[in-house]
Amino acid sequence: MAKYECNEHMENFLRELPKCEHHVHLEGTLEPSLLFNLAKRNNITLPSHFPPSVEACAVRYNNFADLQDFLDHYYIGMSVLITENDFYDLAMEYFKKAHSDGCLHSEVFFDPQGHVERGIHIDTVVEGFDRACKKANELFGTTNKLIMCLLRHLPAESGLKTIDDAHKHFESGVIHGMGLDSSEKPFPPHLFTECYKTLKDRFPQVGLTAHAGEEGDHTFVSNSLDLLTVSRIDHGVNSQHDEQLMTRLAQNQTMLSLCPLSNVKLQVVKDVSELPIDTFFNKNVPFSINSDDPAYFGGYILDNYRAVHTRFGFSTEQWRQIALNGINGSWCDEDRKTELRQLVHSIHNKYKDLI
Ligand code: ADE
Ligand code: ZN
Repeated sequence: MAKYECNEHMENFLRELPKCEHHVHLEGTLEPSLLFNLAKRNNITLPSHFPPSVEACAVRYNNFADLQDFLDHYYIGMSVLITENDFYDLAMEYFKKAHSDGCLHSEVFFDPQGHVERGIHIDTVVEGFDRACKKANELFGTTNKLIMCLLRHLPAESGLKTIDDAHKHFESGVIHGMGLDSSEKPFPPHLFTECYKTLKDRFPQVGLTAHAGEEGDHTFVSNSLDLLTVSRIDHGVNSQHDEQLMTRLAQNQTMLSLCPLSNVKLQVVKDVSELPIDTFFNKNVPFSINSDDPAYFGGYILDNYRAVHTRFGFSTEQWRQIALNGINGSWCDEDRKTELRQLVHSIHNKYKDLI
């Protein structure tokens, strides 16, 4: 439970601290109010077992039994997204909120297969999201990158077809990386070795990541590193149970994109205090703090920072290190990293004697 206070100075420090988000699914930022508006706009009838109102969503979303229970709602939720404008509106809402939370660089996931299998063309999805990335950069000065995820509950052949469908978007640099998400335990990393190899052969510079060690054990993490050749890991909390893996992550400075409030809402832990965040910090395993599916889990990036602070009571110096680790693990260019690091130092200097 919460052990440390987040006083006014700390609250302001955490908000102003330049943050990078590496683990947020754009479809998971679909707030119930927008969901119902889009359902109306697009004449979509939601299934009768889906919560029928914003209020009913708030109750149901607070009671997910596990990852699969959440995913069953998430895939229904995204079915209201039809036009390029819908994808644009969804992403713009997220970028606006992220900016107000002091998030200056976002690398955002999306699930093309969840749309293509409903008859939406992949270009509709990518063009709507890309337009929002560019608009957010113009309006807020934030930098943003798109990461396409493959759904692991679908066969590798569908993943390979998605890689083909997305080819021109990787070629143009509009899609910057690839990840792997959805139900973890029944679909281990080795099933997707060919998908990752195919994309890497075509685009050696592409960023590679995968969800691993959220519900799956630590072997999902090491196998993602070995077989999928990913350079970072999404979640990765179960890495804590293997000392050799912990040493490997620290030595290679492989970043884990942690999602504390998500882990609570999906019953990975009962409270953020049970997460090994202090262990990762003390063992020099780099991590960033992220929102995952904020519209479903009741918190955006700053809420996650606050939840971590009230459980672990990190000093401003430790927070500076966490922010710098997030910059190091980002896929933006070196100039942007230098700029972000300077901003981190100046916010740290502003607050270090006040807290
Ligand atoms: N898709 C959206 N959120 C996810 C999560 N936390 N784990 C796996 N797949 C997801
Ligand atoms: Zn996720």
